[in-house]
Amino acid sequence: MVEGLKDSSAYYPLTRDEVAMLLVKRGVSLGAYNTEEELIGYASAYFPGSETDNLGLDLALTGTELLQVAHIETGLVHPFVRGRGWQYRLYQELIEGIVQKKKYRYILSTVACNNYPALRNSLRLKLSISGLREKYGNKLRYLLLRDLQEPLRICPTSIIRCRHTDIELQQRLIGQGYYGFDVEYNSDALVVCYGLKDV
Ligand SMILES: CC(C)(COP(=O)(O)OP(=O)(O)OC[C@H]1O[C@@H](n2cnc3c(N)ncnc32)[C@H](O)[C@@H]1OP(=O)(O)O)[C@@H](O)C(=O)NCCC(=O)NCCS
Repeated sequence: MVEGLKDSSAYYPLTRDEVAMLLVKRGVSLGAYNTEEELIGYASAYFPGSETDNLGLDLALTGTELLQVAHIETGLVHPFVRGRGWQYRLYQELIEGIVQKKKYRYILSTVACNNYPALRNSLRLKLSISGLREKYGNKLRYLLLRDLQEPLRICPTSIIRCRHTDIELQQRLIGQGYYGFDVEYNSDALVVCYGLKDV
């Protein structure tokens, strides 16, 4: 399924051990199958607990907050069926499952800045861009967060739009308390909408 990626840096493949851990120990995986029972897409949630790969550490969560973190970890859809909403459906199911567990408050994820489908789907599912930094070695990633207890509402008069390539501006906005909550697709760049929390 990784075939056909224009930019392979957009997807960070998991190792066999990581997949085994997601499937068996600390995660939940969902698969979508076609009528021939072939796998056409999958997505996973991971519950990192006190492990050092907990994305909450990047967003300054501490103590018991870290134990309430669930990651949306991977999403991969077969090239033949991309653009038909499969990732959205898989992510939606995973998030509903996490909500029903009532054990987790924070849903976190990382997305490459140029990965429009994954970014669009995450923002539609109410995660918001809360960080932008290098992860997994030196790969630049948006850090996305959804707080199930305190849903984010954006102050409509605070909205600023910027291109996904304008890293410095986005990092400055995030540092000033802005959240990325929407994205639009232009032919040469993505336009990300940032806003302040409505209080
Ligand atoms: C990212 C990925 C999982 C998206 O899966 P998908 O099922 O095709 O996504 P969706 O059909 O839900 O598309 C979401 C949005 O992106 C758009 N989209 C999908 N593929 C697109 C493309 N190649 N170019 C532009 N827009 C695209 C869809 O039209 C939709 O937009 P809309 O809501 O404005 O209509 C899939 O492209 C993939 O497997 N990529 C490789 C692995 C990867 O990058 N995984 C994500 C890691 S975080």
